Amino acid sequence: MDNTTPRIIIAVDGYSSSGKSTMARALAARLGYRYIDSGAMYRAVTLYALEHGFIAAVGTVDTAALIAALPEIKIDFIPTSSGVQHTLLNGRDVEEEIRDLPVSENVSTIAAIPEIRHALVKMQQAFGKSRGIVMDGRDIGTTVFPEAELKIFVNAPAETRARRRLAEMTAAGLKVTYEEILDNIRHRDHIDETRSESPLRRASDAIDLDNSNMTHQQQDLWLMEQVNQTLEKIKEGGHAQG
Ligand code: CDP
Repeated sequence: MDNTTPRIIIAVDGYSSSGKSTMARALAARLGYRYIDSGAMYRAVTLYALEHGFIAAVGTVDTAALIAALPEIKIDFIPTSSGVQHTLLNGRDVEEEIRDLPVSENVSTIAAIPEIRHALVKMQQAFGKSRGIVMDGRDIGTTVFPEAELKIFVNAPAETRARRRLAEMTAAGLKVTYEEILDNIRHRDHIDETRSESPLRRASDAIDLDNSNMTHQQQDLWLMEQVNQTLEKIKEGGHAQG
């Protein structure tokens, strides 16, 4: 893409374990854009809450203490030599810990707290200021960047998503069962869809993608088609930004 090609904001939303992150990361690399994993930010806050004793039992959070601690929580991302960026919580690399089951079991409860969402949405919008960004999550096309030029909504049945997540976690050496993962996915879907503060919703102008039967390569091709069509439309409309 040449210098006159506008740099856009791409929002990738969808259900837990739908493959959004892998897809969004690959797309960003291909376009030379920044990738932001908004779920990692909710996970980092959850890890902070666990480490500071703000979570007594699964789903039982000392909300007031966590909200009071928000100014102490700094989240950033750093590139690594493998090309995959890592999440930093107050300067510490927490990429591995935030994927563990204790975090997964509590993250949707934490992500349903309005004050936490407001703080993280602000940080996410700041990441988008320089445009040329792919961000994945649950509310990127609806709340974080309603003005995003391209919005993708990814979905696949819970069982497909559980099988994928099991393969991923087993490969990482974690001991979990298919049933545990399926339960966790269903539980998170439910919390994400029913919370009052920015529930998981498809933006009305999003393009749907059910990637159950797609290879990574087919998916990448499909995505590039959507990007190219969006860029063409912007050029035709003459309101290129960036
Ligand atoms: O990896 P997975 O798709 O399972 O989830 P994630 O993207 O790492 O996000 C973890 C959790 O954070 C989700 O289950 C949501 O409850 C929450 N989340 C959210 O509420 N809003 C976002 N923009 C991103 C994540």
